Amino acid sequence: MEVGEIPLRQLTPADFFDDEGTPTKTTVEQQRVEESVLRKLKDFEDFSDLEPGIHLKRDDHLPYLLKGLERLSEGYECLDASQPWLCYWIVHSLSLLGHELSEQQKSSVVKFLEKCQSPTGGYGGGPEQFAHLAPTYAAVNCLCIIATDEAYESINREKLLYFLFQMRQNDGSFTMHEGGESDTRSLYCAISVASLTGLDEIAGESLFAGSPQYIVSCQTYEGGIGGCPGAEAHGGYTFCGYAGLVILGHEKLIDTDRMLRWLVNKQMRIEGGFQGRTNKLVDGCYSFWQGGVFPLIQNTLLAEGCKSLCKHNWLFNQQALQEYLLISCQSRFGGLIDKPGKSPDYYHTCYCLSGLTIAQHPPDLSNLIIGEHANNLVPTHPAYNIEWEYVTKANEYFTKRPLKLSDEMQKTKK
Ligand code: FPP
Ligand code: ZN
Repeated sequence: MEVGEIPLRQLTPADFFDDEGTPTKTTVEQQRVEESVLRKLKDFEDFSDLEPGIHLKRDDHLPYLLKGLERLSEGYECLDASQPWLCYWIVHSLSLLGHELSEQQKSSVVKFLEKCQSPTGGYGGGPEQFAHLAPTYAAVNCLCIIATDEAYESINREKLLYFLFQMRQNDGSFTMHEGGESDTRSLYCAISVASLTGLDEIAGESLFAGSPQYIVSCQTYEGGIGGCPGAEAHGGYTFCGYAGLVILGHEKLIDTDRMLRWLVNKQMRIEGGFQGRTNKLVDGCYSFWQGGVFPLIQNTLLAEGCKSLCKHNWLFNQQALQEYLLISCQSRFGGLIDKPGKSPDYYHTCYCLSGLTIAQHPPDLSNLIIGEHANNLVPTHPAYNIEWEYVTKANEYFTKRPLKLSDEMQKTKK
């Protein structure tokens, strides 16, 4: 494992954004962000005598995360319909930092998520809210990280399967909720949840018939994946689409070369982090949404016997991403952020840490840890974004518990 001693990346004038003599609101914003990142790098170098080395500020992030498990500030009121997400963002961040919850903390999260479970299957954004695929994904991921019998048993799998069939559309896409929008996010949520709980096996082919083709139809001329056919390629949807294809085992259906070309061009030259779409600004959360696609593609290419992929030759600049996250995205008050000048929140903390571990741990195990060894995070499974061990445990638990479907469910399956 390589650790630490690599000097900071050297930037050249050619790396800076060129507005070609025509400044616009977009080019001015881009130049401001580059300047703010350069200021962070300069501060880091200026203070390196006092505080040598690049540090992941665990001692600030842990209390910030643990506080969120107990109580949220008023600022989170707008996320009233995302309560299972908050559980997942916090619990996953803690697990990446290697922090084990107490049995009592685990049980309280399970009991809270039970209150969010809809009597008709799936999870709502909070107690008494309608079932929705996004909080369902967050709740199932969170329960699989908690990984106790209480957590697994709290999921009403028969009703969850019923909910999934209710959301399924004829073209293989899924609506987020009854009467809601369908896109590559909702489809990914359905695929991930079904796969982790073993419901994909139980449902048989009918649940995701046509879904891989739906995802492929969302790949754009740029190479990335959009929310629905004809929509702009975006990192969030590209992750959802490609991870969904990988879980379904149909990743070869998409044009991988075109997707990879788009993806590598989303890493910003100066900032080192990723933008979500062409001509937009860097944002720490895309460290995972874009960064997480690389190990998935790398696995596809390795399985195809791609000869040009060798050790220490990963598909993106791991050092640049780690420097962005560690130097520009750590809040002084704990938590991680979108870009310099922004405040921390649990979403960005989760996806910045998830991107950091992706950059540290390529699939060929040639780990690269920028800064001290203590910066090393627990690796995450890039298709589900929970630790590998928790994917295995959930699979083992649920495959040993086949479901006996009611007559009503048998009819829905058809
Ligand atoms: C654009 O926001 C962002 C979106 C349109 C959605 C992004 C989707 C995800 C992050 C994936 C969600 C995943 C799951 C599993 C539900 P913006 O215009 O504010 O940002 P931008 O300027 O960076 O494009
Ligand atoms: Zn963001």
